[in-house]
Amino acid sequence: MQQYTNYPLLQHNTFQMDVRAALYVEYNSVDELCQFLSSTDFEHHRNRFIHIGAGSNLLFAGDYNGLVLHSAIHDLEVVEDTSEYQLLRVGSGYVWDDLVAYCVDHKLAGIENLSAIPGEVGASAVQNIGAYGVEVCDVIDRVEAIDLQGTPRIFTKEECQYGYRDSIFKRELRGKYIITHVVYRLMKSPAFKLGYGDLRARVEAEGDPTLDAVRKAVTAIRDSKLPNPKELGNAGSFFTNPVIPREQYDTLKSKFPDIPSYPIDETHVKVPAGWLIEHVGWKGRALGHAAVHDRQALVLVNKGGATGAEIMQLAHRISQDIYAQYGIRIVPEVNYIQ
Ligand code: EPU
Repeated sequence: MQQYTNYPLLQHNTFQMDVRAALYVEYNSVDELCQFLSSTDFEHHRNRFIHIGAGSNLLFAGDYNGLVLHSAIHDLEVVEDTSEYQLLRVGSGYVWDDLVAYCVDHKLAGIENLSAIPGEVGASAVQNIGAYGVEVCDVIDRVEAIDLQGTPRIFTKEECQYGYRDSIFKRELRGKYIITHVVYRLMKSPAFKLGYGDLRARVEAEGDPTLDAVRKAVTAIRDSKLPNPKELGNAGSFFTNPVIPREQYDTLKSKFPDIPSYPIDETHVKVPAGWLIEHVGWKGRALGHAAVHDRQALVLVNKGGATGAEIMQLAHRISQDIYAQYGIRIVPEVNYIQ
């Protein structure tokens, strides 16, 4: 276990905020985590702590006067192997895209569309990461966690209550459990999902679809739209795409005929927040050192030296303008850490 006071978080947040944590603790195993949870150091901080993954979905308002916990549990084991699938049990600190690479290399299908998403395995199960028609809950079998007293619990996929970028760990159980392992069910025969945008055309241009071709195509699409956080601080999609009643959408559509939507259920549709941001005129614009990315309006960027407050201010201005024009409230997907 590694434990540091007044610890710099620059390498632990993709928005490139140069802030510090009062205490930073990284554990290498479930035993180490349990040991720490029963320590007086944890007792002092139990009302003010956050657990981070790769810091790709966080925005620090300033220094964090509390405890930052990080998992370095990196094990990966096959826990069941049948002719149809493998169950892989993976430590919460395993880098997500390394897992996708492992699966593609071992001809295990199911997460190839989720290539090149920043972050780690633990966060994948909290956040229900998704892209190009696939959500990670499609392949989650179960989630192993520890409560703050050190008691283990296994959550079935149903108990995780997955929805669009949502799970029980973001709501009722926020801050109550720490995920230590995720068990994924990967298939031996791929069922390619190529229906999103021009993914099929890109994949088929290389010949018959393969897991590797999908991984390459998804990575290329992401590279063309999303800024590399090492060059331009950002946290991917800053807002979730709002889900609104169909009636409200129909009224908007009569006024703004181009407004896109994706069906959710009989009564609701999802509207791309990127379209709304672009159409209120924010795409590519800056406010101080914070800006809206010029190739994907859903991404806010740190042009260099931005404070968390500046980025929050930009997000607030954008939300206000969208509400004024469309009557839709957009909500940050990024977690504000104050
Ligand atoms: N659009 C615009 N202008 C923009 C950006 C988007 O008009 O500047 C409109 C277009 O109509 C476009 C539609 O929005 O067709 C959807 O855009 P895109 O396909 O780029 O997807 P998204 O809704 O912006 C979501 C995820 C992404 C994921 C992509 C691809 C959320 C919050 N974001 O973005 O996830 O990569 O779909 O599946 O659901 C992330 O979470 O960090 C992330 C990048």
